[in-house]
Amino acid sequence: MSFKKEKICVIGAGYVGLVSGTCFAQIGHRVVCVDNNKEKIENLEKGILPIYEPGLEKMISKNKREGRLSFATSIAQGVGESNIIFIAVHTPTKENGETNLQYVEDVSREVARAMDKYKVLVSKSTMPVNTGQKIKEIITKYCPKGLAFDIVSNPEFLKEGTAIKDFLEPDRIVIGVESKKAEKIMRGIYKPIKSPIIFTSIESSEIIKHACNAFLATKISFINAIANICEKNSANVEEVAMAMGLDKRIGSDFLKAGIGFGGSCFPKDVDAFINVAKKSGYEFNLLKEVKKINKKQREIFLDNIIRHVPDIKGKNIAVWGLSFKPDTDDMREAPSVDIINGLIAQGAIVKAFDPVAIKKSKEIFKDEIMYCKDAKEALRDSVALVVLTEWGHFKKIKPEEIKKLMKFPRIFDGRNIFPLRKMADLGFDYHSIGKNKK
Ligand code: UDX
Ligand code: UDX
Repeated sequence: MSFKKEKICVIGAGYVGLVSGTCFAQIGHRVVCVDNNKEKIENLEKGILPIYEPGLEKMISKNKREGRLSFATSIAQGVGESNIIFIAVHTPTKENGETNLQYVEDVSREVARAMDKYKVLVSKSTMPVNTGQKIKEIITKYCPKGLAFDIVSNPEFLKEGTAIKDFLEPDRIVIGVESKKAEKIMRGIYKPIKSPIIFTSIESSEIIKHACNAFLATKISFINAIANICEKNSANVEEVAMAMGLDKRIGSDFLKAGIGFGGSCFPKDVDAFINVAKKSGYEFNLLKEVKKINKKQREIFLDNIIRHVPDIKGKNIAVWGLSFKPDTDDMREAPSVDIINGLIAQGAIVKAFDPVAIKKSKEIFKDEIMYCKDAKEALRDSVALVVLTEWGHFKKIKPEEIKKLMKFPRIFDGRNIFPLRKMADLGFDYHSIGKNKK
């Protein structure tokens, strides 16, 4: 396909920056990924990735080999070599719910100082409304006097685990622009991707991102609240969610009840959006409740374990899954952290296994928990199995085998991976989310 191949710089080679930069290279652009973490860049140059994301390693090495993808630590170098600059550094939330924009601001200043001709500066990280204008002020202040540039907001909608597919085949691409020139350039870089592009104002684009994540988080807390009602009334939340989801106005995605949402985005974005609303003179109480339900969901699950395992102190508890969701090694805001801390506080001996997150987990739990070489080893001598992440691999292990390995056949299934009736028939003391044993 003929289209203009651009020179792109992506600043921040984290989950989002690395996937975005690699995918831009994959569709034909020449991309330099910049990160101020020297070790990360040295490793990337050697082919060692800082994250686990299915398909990414192969795609990086292919694009590096074919000369479309490179890495650097210097923003000045990246900006010098490129016409379009994406900012993908992290935007954490402070204690008070406000977004910490220090990294975005620092990077913007450095970009401005390195600019010598017209560039498009694109926000990829999630930023509160009006950040684009803040970036514009910084660039105007620090770039050579009178130099033309455009700012753009182009939020990411990448789910960890399926981030490459989400980038290359998105439901839609959202681009907030202020000029026709920037609109044309942005339309051009996404030309190989066959998805609708929605052009909006920068402010709408910034709000779209927060509104999407806040809405998805709301769906999850809503179904978790329904799960709690189901449990008390002999109903089954999976049946309820399935029937609800078939109503096209509701949709079936993000209606999976469990131990709540974690990760680097939903908890942070819900907090940030509550703050954005407050600053706009609106108390977003609905989102405050979404947050409370999410926290409570972990507590209810933990209390249930403590209530049902007699004399838990000193007992082995098998934990399957540490990452906040399957197909990632990310443990940021993972429900596993709170739940494992709760088990440790009770004096339980936690025997944990995760297919990829053990390395990240060791940064949080060192000697406090035992790490097992596989899922089955965790079960040995355990009086309970606690399922915290629905890795596909776990679903393939036969319940009969689980029963044989455990000291007592008891399961707390935080992600509803096992069939309720079968577990009861096999004689498990089986606890799931939103499904009554009757
Ligand atoms: C980030 C944002 O936090 C999130 O809001 C957005 O939606 C997606 O991008 P993520 O990619 O998960 O999230 O962040 P992280 O994995 O922490 O990566 C950020 C990278 O930026 C790190 O590699 C860090 O070293 C780098 N960085 C940070 C810089 O290169 N320069 C800085 O000044 C700060
Ligand atoms: C999210 C957004 O979906 C994505 O568009 C981008 O903005 C980054 O943030 P991510 O956090 O990677 O992606 O994963 P996601 O699949 O959205 O799951 C987030 C959390 O919600 C996980 O802890 C997951 O277990 C939980 N979840 C999700 C549920 O509990 N039930 C569901 O039905 C769906």
